[in-house]
Amino acid sequence: MASTQTLSTDRIDSFEVALGKHFSEKPRYVPFKDRRLSGDMTVETMLNSCHGKYMTSWRGVPLMKDCFDLIITQQLLWDLKPQTVIELGAYKGGSALWTADIVKAFGFKSRIISVDINMSMLCPLARECPDVTYIEGDVSEIEKCLPEELLKTLPHPWFINEDVHVNVVGVLEYLDKFMESGDYLLIEDTNPIKPTKLGQGLIKSLGYDPLGNEKLEQVKISLDTT
Ligand SMILES: C[S@@+](CC[C@H](N)C(=O)[O-])C[C@H]1O[C@@H](n2cnc3c(N)ncnc32)[C@H](O)[C@@H]1O
Repeated sequence: MASTQTLSTDRIDSFEVALGKHFSEKPRYVPFKDRRLSGDMTVETMLNSCHGKYMTSWRGVPLMKDCFDLIITQQLLWDLKPQTVIELGAYKGGSALWTADIVKAFGFKSRIISVDINMSMLCPLARECPDVTYIEGDVSEIEKCLPEELLKTLPHPWFINEDVHVNVVGVLEYLDKFMESGDYLLIEDTNPIKPTKLGQGLIKSLGYDPLGNEKLEQVKISLDTT
């Protein structure tokens, strides 16, 4: 006779007590200054996660997010309930489309703006998404992409996702002038062991060069934590 195993209520209760203790000591969100600026992934794990990341799509539109990014970001969106999302780096539009769909599924409205130097890469499904405004421009001149007159009209809280990796200090210092307490800034690809070139995780024969600390150092300068 097959035996059925169930978790006792006592064990679930003690698990929840342990979780509560864990999270009171190690909360979900911590300020940048309190973060440990290193990761736990080995190079091999990172390369394997990139393998998946470069094949990830949403409704058939490629997006450059790995499984960790997607689960963390959806929770951030739920917790923050941003009224404005500013994405720097649209690529095919997959991440903007994903954000629009997630926000809609969560039942709140958000104005989504996505900036890229080359909008010819956008997939039609992403381009046609009515909830996303695409702005073509060079973030080296961020004040032209996102002029003051526009930024001042965008309701808070903001969720900003920096995923272009160009003019990081200039971009962050410019946007900081318009940000308010409660806004959230996500800066992608600061892990020094990430592969430098797109595709290196997928095609290891191309060789692997680590990204290095440059972007993280730029973020530290912008946040004045050096
Ligand atoms: C990593 S991809 C963005 C990926 C996208 N956020 C996603 O998750 O699918 C970086 C994008 O930055 C854009 N880019 C590169 N240089 C730029 C610049 N100077 N100004 C604006 N966009 C730029 C590229 O065209 C590219 O689409």
